[in-house]
Amino acid sequence: MKQLNSLFLDLNDTTRYQAWRDQKLSQMPTSIDEYMVPVKDPVRLSADEYNAIHDLLQRSNMAIFVADPDEARNKTIPVNISSQFGMHRLDHNMGADHDGVSELTVRSGQWRGGYIPYTNKPIHWHTDGYYNEERRKINGMVLYCVQNALRGGENALLDHEIAYIHLRDSNPEYIRAFLHPQAMTIPANIINNNEIRPERTGPVFSVNDSGALHMRYTARTRSISWRDDELTREATDCLSEFLASDSPYILRAGLNPGMGLICNNILHNRSGFDEDDNHRRLIYRLRYYDRADS
Ligand SMILES: [Fe+2]
Repeated sequence: MKQLNSLFLDLNDTTRYQAWRDQKLSQMPTSIDEYMVPVKDPVRLSADEYNAIHDLLQRSNMAIFVADPDEARNKTIPVNISSQFGMHRLDHNMGADHDGVSELTVRSGQWRGGYIPYTNKPIHWHTDGYYNEERRKINGMVLYCVQNALRGGENALLDHEIAYIHLRDSNPEYIRAFLHPQAMTIPANIINNNEIRPERTGPVFSVNDSGALHMRYTARTRSISWRDDELTREATDCLSEFLASDSPYILRAGLNPGMGLICNNILHNRSGFDEDDNHRRLIYRLRYYDRADS
């Protein structure tokens, strides 16, 4: 949902905030089924299919498309559906293939196996690229399932605008704390005395040029330092409690082969999973500097 800058940044304009908030909540889908859009051919969406996904992105920053698995075109499907929603600038993060698409699968024994996405372990709540510098901010993200696990591997999903609303309604000062440019620091990634990524400090919430809300967040408790300030502590506690709650806005989705998530880098986590020979989980992940459909 596109907004002018001041709505998310201006904590004094409660009238405008309340009007946006009430409208947003009244339009939110209430069940996982409402997020699912069956599509015949994800590479060429019909007008109705496109409109259904577009509408969900506007209302809730996410949609799930459901298509038949297509082994011949696996990788081209998520790239192609992304471009239909205006996402073109892929982030070539470490771990991605040369084309910028990351194959999330268990990689024991490789360097990737040192990173949790490439294991079968659960992943805490986060938004993607929370350790990226400002110019590589991840605004859009697509997951496409080629193969699901035998058990587990589901994602919990939460529109980050809902997290913003929860925090602002709890105490508007929590938003002020999370807008602070020193709110959250991720230490440098150093491997064998080699600095792979420098320390990154930045706000949790920020606003894009288009006026859209962006969120940087990780629930990890090691290798992170929060600004040493009472309100920041209260705000992180408030958010963790919300993420652990049974809020109806927190969705749990297991992607089956042929299904994909298109989103504006919402909050998400992943449960741990088990595999067997016929169920080696493989998810393509695409991170974009562009938001979906804005
Ligand atoms: Fe992620």
